[in-house]
Amino acid sequence: MKVTQLDCLCVILLHLLHTAGSEKFEVLGPTDPIVAVAGDDIILPCYLKPNISAEDMTVDWLNLDFKDSRVYRYQNHRIIRDYQIPYYRGRTSLFEEELWRGNTSLKLTRVQGTDEGRYKCFIKAKSWYDDFTIQVLVKERGGMGLLCESEGWHPEPELAWLDSKGVHLSAGPPETHRDFKGFYRVKQHVIVQETDTNRFTCRVQQSRINEKMETEVHLLY
Ligand SMILES: *[C@@H]1O[C@H](CO)[C@@H](O)[C@H](O)[C@H]1NC(C)=O
Ligand SMILES: *[C@@H]1O[C@H](CO)[C@@H](O)[C@H](O)[C@H]1NC(C)=O
Repeated sequence: MKVTQLDCLCVILLHLLHTAGSEKFEVLGPTDPIVAVAGDDIILPCYLKPNISAEDMTVDWLNLDFKDSRVYRYQNHRIIRDYQIPYYRGRTSLFEEELWRGNTSLKLTRVQGTDEGRYKCFIKAKSWYDDFTIQVLVKERGGMGLLCESEGWHPEPELAWLDSKGVHLSAGPPETHRDFKGFYRVKQHVIVQETDTNRFTCRVQQSRINEKMETEVHLLY
């Protein structure tokens, strides 16, 4: 049989289709929401199956709740910062050393409440693309507010919150009031995180006359 030009074209087309087919992949990630604590760094997992290299692909991370939704783009082996939501600048990165094995997870640092939303990991090769969407929830770090208040002092005392090792805790601004007889009332708030002992001390003292009062609080979380 004589090979016509048409046959030849068909063979080439088939070959092209086959090449394209070999690049097929799925993009996968977690189906459960990622729960982040405000202030922490998180990883939004996303990877290719089969685990082929994504180094030559375009990796887009989008926040679907924004109109101009680009959180991060990797293309032609580099980061593309154009059209990145300014708010994510400097806070997002890929694990570039992991791309060769199809790991296109995004690292997001210093999570804020406004980072909550749906993130799409969109991966495009020459003739194939796929995507996966992850839900991110942000919760505030838990803590317990404690208030220490003491009255009837003269001269003005100092108030301090301490942990069980006697280390000063950073507390809110101290408040001082004087009653009509000229005595001082002091109070101060502190927000404490759970510790192994959960014991905290409020100390009120007048260093000048060396008088001191302490109250220990034991929290049962
Ligand atoms: C890719 O996946 C296969 C099996 O699923 C595994 O054996 C192999 O180590 C993986 N390769 C890389 C580079 O992670
Ligand atoms: C991707 O890389 C990051 C950083 O090394 C790692 O924490 C994560 O588990 C990797 N994900 C997959 C699917 O291999």
